[in-house]
Amino acid sequence: MAKKTIKQKYKKKLRRPEPIGNWYGEPNLGSYYDDNEIKAVVKVLKNSRKWHTGFGPNSEEINNFENAFAKYCGVKHAIAVSNNGNGFDMVLRSLSLSKKDEIILPALNYKAWYMALMRYDSKLVFCDINLKTMNIDPREIEKKINKNTRLICPVHFGGISCDEKLIDNIAREASKKFGTKIKVVYDAARAAGVNYRGSKVGSGGLCEIFSFHSAKLLTTLGEGGMITTNNSSLSKKLRDMRNYGGENDWGMNYRMSKVQASFGIEQLNRLDDLNKLRVKIANRRTNYLNKLKNILLPVDQKYSTNIFYLYPIMVSDNWGLKERNKIVKSLEKEYGIICATPKFINIRWKYIQKSLGIPELPKTEELCSKVFCPILHPKLNKKQELYINSAIANVIKSI
Ligand SMILES: Cc1ncc(COP(=O)(O)O)c(C=O)c1O
Repeated sequence: MAKKTIKQKYKKKLRRPEPIGNWYGEPNLGSYYDDNEIKAVVKVLKNSRKWHTGFGPNSEEINNFENAFAKYCGVKHAIAVSNNGNGFDMVLRSLSLSKKDEIILPALNYKAWYMALMRYDSKLVFCDINLKTMNIDPREIEKKINKNTRLICPVHFGGISCDEKLIDNIAREASKKFGTKIKVVYDAARAAGVNYRGSKVGSGGLCEIFSFHSAKLLTTLGEGGMITTNNSSLSKKLRDMRNYGGENDWGMNYRMSKVQASFGIEQLNRLDDLNKLRVKIANRRTNYLNKLKNILLPVDQKYSTNIFYLYPIMVSDNWGLKERNKIVKSLEKEYGIICATPKFINIRWKYIQKSLGIPELPKTEELCSKVFCPILHPKLNKKQELYINSAIANVIKSI
């Protein structure tokens, strides 16, 4: 009998386990909670019926959540806010940026921070990334930092931390050299529980800002955020600002509700377990796929082991955009698996492109044309996991 070609061998249709339908590439982690969260929320609802408290802006739940989160991150202060984007807006207001200020940031992110920044007329200086971590490349920061640099905004993009010590040190040294005060503010939207040199992300730079949106590693009923900082005067300023400015300052309502905080406390208790589950699933996926040609799989860094907010696969060797798109299309059409594909923000959003143009960032461009991220969710059962892994292998072998 004639030997089967690779294509025939691997083209066999896999049986899709339930749920039938499409599985989206961004992990909808807010779908992971149990009776503990539900009980906590019900308790707050019942207690808030007291006429003399109601839902009250200052609550034990908010305090407890902030204290627990600060402790978890090994940082002095945690300030609960309505979401990550608003949190960044608050920090920007506290910095009083001017036209001559320059802000260094990557072009690989969700658009939230660019929207906040575009309200100011400071100059945005885009910086390239490291292909292995998907985070801003510290060597590129060194090239772009100058006497006008006021702020650096790295993003912990996909489950590996930025090298915070290195970046903070670059800012410190440049500040000494230029006689300025360059601040670093980390976008930690996707980084709750992410490992950095034996502890958790949260104590870097001036502050770090987390998101508790439904897709994130920890959620507070689908929306929410937290700012962590060791800077006591910033913490005081932000606490006032989120509550219409306290007595003397400008402010707005950037608050989180106590119902959200009660949910968040329970989520924080399970965060490490959830992240461990993600790592297990990711490691099994890596074992399953690691003999395949033409792809590069995610690797850890010495300073940070991945907790896989995303599981990025990069096409390699002679493959590029054409092959990457073919893989993404086949996974969707043949198997119902929709992959997340990281986006160069200036290309993805016309509004940003119109105002800021498209900077030359060869690594960012390469990553956005070669990477695809199939879903990785702690709730995947073994059947679903195998289905996804075999589908990826089948598709890659059939290209
Ligand atoms: C990296 C990153 N930054 C910022 C945001 C914005 O977060 P939020 O929706 O909490 O404002 C997101 C959320 O999608 C994100 O992924």
